[in-house]
Amino acid sequence: MSEQTALRGVFPREHRGIVLRPLDAGDAEEYAEGTRDPEVARFAHLPLPEYTPDTVRRLAAWDVPKGFDSGDLAVLSIVDADGGGFLGSLVLFDITGHQAELGFWLAPGARGRGVAVRAVAAAVSSARALGLTALVARTAEDNRASQRTLAAAGFTRTGDPEETTVPSGQRAVTLRYRLDLEEHGQH
Ligand SMILES: CC(C)(COP(=O)(O)OP(=O)(O)OC[C@H]1O[C@@H](n2cnc3c(N)ncnc32)[C@H](O)[C@@H]1OP(=O)(O)O)[C@@H](O)C(=O)NCCC(=O)NCCS
Repeated sequence: MSEQTALRGVFPREHRGIVLRPLDAGDAEEYAEGTRDPEVARFAHLPLPEYTPDTVRRLAAWDVPKGFDSGDLAVLSIVDADGGGFLGSLVLFDITGHQAELGFWLAPGARGRGVAVRAVAAAVSSARALGLTALVARTAEDNRASQRTLAAAGFTRTGDPEETTVPSGQRAVTLRYRLDLEEHGQH
């Protein structure tokens, strides 16, 4: 199966009350608003310095289908399975045949009720469906919420803090996390 078919076959994906689906133009206002939250601005290391509703509509029209076509990038929205309300963003990037990196943020009003853990669990189930053998993530040393989210979803920390280039293009000291997906496999 080609990567293109693989990504389009896996999303939208529902898991315990939330759905991961491709970012679309209808998310523009809420996505742009979410990126203005200070925690997102500080910790999410998003590729663009600023997101307006127009920027997000362009992402939805061009970058999202391009990522699905090439198979190396899934820009997803986290939405409520009951009503489809926008909750946040989850991106699988640098997808290879074996692994992908995970990034995520939630709108402030969606936090504190387990949405992030369920969204990451949905990403894990998607990664298994894609046949990946591992998911990785990076987080700032002082981002307790992200670290606890990753730990609750089964990720473990690997190695010491190190300076890496994050998706914004900046250098930042990050902790690396990893989840092997073959633990219960048959190899
Ligand atoms: C990180 C984030 C997605 C967590 O979302 P959330 O839905 O509130 O998280 P959950 O309710 O699923 O809780 C997940 C874990 O984080 C913990 N947590 C949540 N907010 C926390 C906070 N402010 N401080 C410390 N721990 C926190 C929860 O207690 C839970 O841990 P536990 O299972 O050990 O009790 C959200 O805070 C966010 O969007 N932050 C800004 C962007 C960001 O940091 N993204 C990650 C970049 S790597």
